[in-house]
Amino acid sequence: MSHSPDTSSTPGAPAPGDPVPPGASPAQPRPASSAVLKGQPALVTGANSGIGRAVALSLARAGADVVVNYVTDPDAAEQVAGEIRNLGRRALTCRADVSKEDEVEAMFAQAVETFGTLHIVVCNAGLQRDAPFHEMSLSQWNTVIGVNLTGQFLCARSAVREFARRGVDEHVSAAAGKIIHMSSVHEMIPWAGHANYAASKGGVMMLMRSLAQEVAPLRIRVNAIAPGAIRTPINTAAWQTPEAYAELMKLVPYKRIGEPDDIGRAAVWLASDASDYVTGTSLFVDGGMTLFPGFSSGG
Ligand code: BGC
Repeated sequence: MSHSPDTSSTPGAPAPGDPVPPGASPAQPRPASSAVLKGQPALVTGANSGIGRAVALSLARAGADVVVNYVTDPDAAEQVAGEIRNLGRRALTCRADVSKEDEVEAMFAQAVETFGTLHIVVCNAGLQRDAPFHEMSLSQWNTVIGVNLTGQFLCARSAVREFARRGVDEHVSAAAGKIIHMSSVHEMIPWAGHANYAASKGGVMMLMRSLAQEVAPLRIRVNAIAPGAIRTPINTAAWQTPEAYAELMKLVPYKRIGEPDDIGRAAVWLASDASDYVTGTSLFVDGGMTLFPGFSSGG
C-alpha cells in the first residue's frame, strides 16, 4: 500500500495566500523548535527545590533566561542558577517571601530591570502545614493561605501589570505573557488532615480561571498545572519507604510516582506557543490520581 502525502484541506479552512479574515490574530504561534522559549525571560517562585527547580531548569533548557526565586536556602538557589548558566542562559537569584507585597514588587522590579521584561511567570512556591482540623492553629491556616494563595495572587498581579505594559511582541510570542499557577490534584480531591492546603489549592483554581477570563483580551494566557504525587521534599513521607510507596501506588493508576521533570515538561508546553489557544485550564499531571482509583474494581 502506498502512502501519498495528504494534500486535502479542511473544508472552509483558508488556503495559503487567502486574505486574513476580519478579527483574526495578526500574531500567529511560532513553530516549535528546541529553543521555543528563547527571548522569553521567566520567573519561577520557589525555584530552589522540588517542582520549582525542575520547572526553572526545563524552561532554561527550552531557551528562557530565568529568575530563581527562593525564601530560604540561598545556596540551593545559587546552585540552580549555576545549572541554568551552564545551559547557556542567564539566571538571577532573588530572595522574596511571596506572601509579602513589598517583597514581591521589589522582586519583579529587579527582574524587569535585569532582563528588560518577563514573558513567563510560574507561581509555584507552596508549602504544607498539616493538622487534624480540630487542632489546626490559625497560624497554620494563615501560613498556608498566605504563601499558596495570596502569594500566587501577588505574583500573578505583578505579572499581569508587566505583560499589559509591554503588550504582544510577535517576534517573541503570540501572547503578551503566560502565567502558570502551580495547583494540585487537591484543587479537586478533598484531603482530610490538610484542610488549609486543599482550601488554598481550590482557591488557586478559581483565581486562575477568573484571572484567565479577565485578561484573555490582553492576550495573556493563564493556566494551572495540577500535579499529583511528585517525588519532592514536600511529601517525602509518602514515598521514602517501600511500605509508604506501596500505599501511595494504590492511589496512582499509572503505578509510578511522578518526577519533577514530568511537571517541567508540562510547564514548557503551557509557556510556549504550542499551547497558544489554551487558557483557563488546569492540566492534571497525576498518573490518573484524579480518576477515582478506588472504583477501578467494584462500585
Ligand atoms: C501535595 C503532596 C501530595 C500530593 C498528592 C500534593 O499537592 O503537596 O504532599 O503527595 O498532592 O496527594
